[in-house]
Amino acid sequence: MPWSVGAGLEGKGVLVTGAAGGIGAAVSRAFATTGARVLAVDLDQGRLDALVAELEGEGHRTLAWDIRDVGRHEELVAQARETIGDLHVLANLAAVLRRHPSLDDATEEDWDFQHDINLKACFFLCRAVSQQMIQQGEGGRIITFSSQGWWSGGFGGSVVYAASKGGVVSMTRGLARTLGPHGITVNCVAPGQVHTPMLMKDLSPELYESMRAQTPLGYVAEPEDLAGTVVFLASDHARYITGATINVSGGLLMY
Ligand SMILES: NC(=O)c1ccc[n+]([C@@H]2O[C@H](COP(=O)([O-])OP(=O)(O)OC[C@H]3O[C@@H](n4cnc5c(N)ncnc54)[C@H](O)[C@@H]3O)[C@@H](O)[C@H]2O)c1
Repeated sequence: MPWSVGAGLEGKGVLVTGAAGGIGAAVSRAFATTGARVLAVDLDQGRLDALVAELEGEGHRTLAWDIRDVGRHEELVAQARETIGDLHVLANLAAVLRRHPSLDDATEEDWDFQHDINLKACFFLCRAVSQQMIQQGEGGRIITFSSQGWWSGGFGGSVVYAASKGGVVSMTRGLARTLGPHGITVNCVAPGQVHTPMLMKDLSPELYESMRAQTPLGYVAEPEDLAGTVVFLASDHARYITGATINVSGGLLMY
């Protein structure tokens, strides 16, 4: 296949979960500028409507859906296909973080809630979407979301969250190995600190400032700082990359 400067995403169907969130909205906007058709999935219809109203281009749709309900992922994929046609990309950003500075305060319910959404739902959704992509017969791109926490163990009382994000990295590699023969790449994005509601909730100003100070680029990322990496991984330019975890942390971590 010859090299071309475009992303190769014009007219392609892209499913973004967590689309109404800080990074998800920036990722959705970025995909829309490539000419892709975005299906924005998140919990709240009102926030999805507001997002889609501002997307460039045509053919974008929304679906209010709780991805924690893994028994309904095949139905989710069927509805996605009905609304935007063939699926070329899944960008799975939906996740939750509950901080507990003391380990003793983390309950079993906290563990289940974060792992169910961040890891378990990610697996079942990747599987359901990959089955659809295999049926379509044209390969595809899956992008999962981890965090610097997969590597650092998590700051600010986020051990349980970090464990779920470690699972995402391992799982991404296993999915990449399994789905490669079908022409489906599976890669992971690991942000450092990004200025979104998830980061700011229950984070002490001191920890925020100390992480900013340890970031060689000197600032906490804005959601748009992540969007280009996701579009790149979905694009033709990344066609020979799979199983990778891309560290987008402004140098907070270096690997
Ligand atoms: N903000 C950061 O500093 C940071 C750092 C590392 C990793 N990340 C990762 O980046 C991704 C995006 O995070 P963000 O900062 O934009 O967070 P955010 O809280 O702004 O957005 C997350 C979105 O996921 C949605 N969501 C949660 N549970 C859901 C469910 N069960 N079904 C459907 N949607 C659901 C939420 O409604 C929300 O809109 C996440 O995977 C997060 O773990 C963020």
